[in-house]
Amino acid sequence: MLKSYLKYRFKSVNAHGLHSPFVYEFYTKVVKSAKKRNENRIEKLRKSLIKDQSIVEVSDLGAGSKSSKSTQRKINEITKSASIPPKFGRLIQAIIGFYNCKELLELGTSMGIGSAYMVSASNSPRLTTIEGCPNIAAKAKANFDALNLDNIDLLIGDFDTVLGNKINPDKIFDLIYIDGNHAYEPTMRYFEFALKHTDEDSFIVFDDIYWSDGMTKAWEEIKKLDKIHVSMDLFRMGIVCKKQKQRKQDFILKY
Ligand SMILES: C[S@@+](CC[C@H](N)C(=O)[O-])C[C@H]1O[C@@H](n2cnc3c(N)ncnc32)[C@H](O)[C@@H]1O
Repeated sequence: MLKSYLKYRFKSVNAHGLHSPFVYEFYTKVVKSAKKRNENRIEKLRKSLIKDQSIVEVSDLGAGSKSSKSTQRKINEITKSASIPPKFGRLIQAIIGFYNCKELLELGTSMGIGSAYMVSASNSPRLTTIEGCPNIAAKAKANFDALNLDNIDLLIGDFDTVLGNKINPDKIFDLIYIDGNHAYEPTMRYFEFALKHTDEDSFIVFDDIYWSDGMTKAWEEIKKLDKIHVSMDLFRMGIVCKKQKQRKQDFILKY
């Protein structure tokens, strides 16, 4: 991870290094504005969850947590280890608002912090979010209620099952956020689903692209595919777009 981070720091560029108009706009209008945003309501909720010592029985259907292998986990520990950090919550929210992404899909709800950032974007989008652990999903639902967020469809079950059974085969999402089961094979499978359910203007966002060798392998392969013409590496997050009219290019952006 440290080696990947040093490589990222060395290679990442700011606006001066960007010759693609799309990525220049993305950097100057979205990434820059994301730095200045403030989501006090959501951060207040995060703070209260970080103080919450109550225990939930978790059934992890994914690659698990690096910090704990126990099935009995405290809310505070789950919140700290699994939730999107504020900086990246602000970024995904800024993308959704700026590009008017209306239909959103999130794989991996956890406490719902990422979901809350996404649906609180300025364009009032609609989110479908999937969580495999029913007890965690119940906490997320309570958190959505506490924040008065009602434009969220929370589906409970394994990603593969829910994607296969509950998502209309013709459905197109403007943004898909893949944030659970951080291993190579499932990530590639979710990406295949994402390819079928997005169009030229959509964003496919991966969290934790350097979390494991498997994630990094998936990221490197996805970037190379002909179907993907723009990739943006922000170290924690990797974002790809089809944009077939653009010259195929990979960008490493300072954030
Ligand atoms: C990193 S957390 C999600 C964090 C959330 N997106 C955020 O930004 O706050 C990943 C979640 O995905 C769930 N998960 C992992 N693998 C899964 C699978 N195969 N099916 C359903 N849920 C899964 C875990 O239970 C966990 O709650």
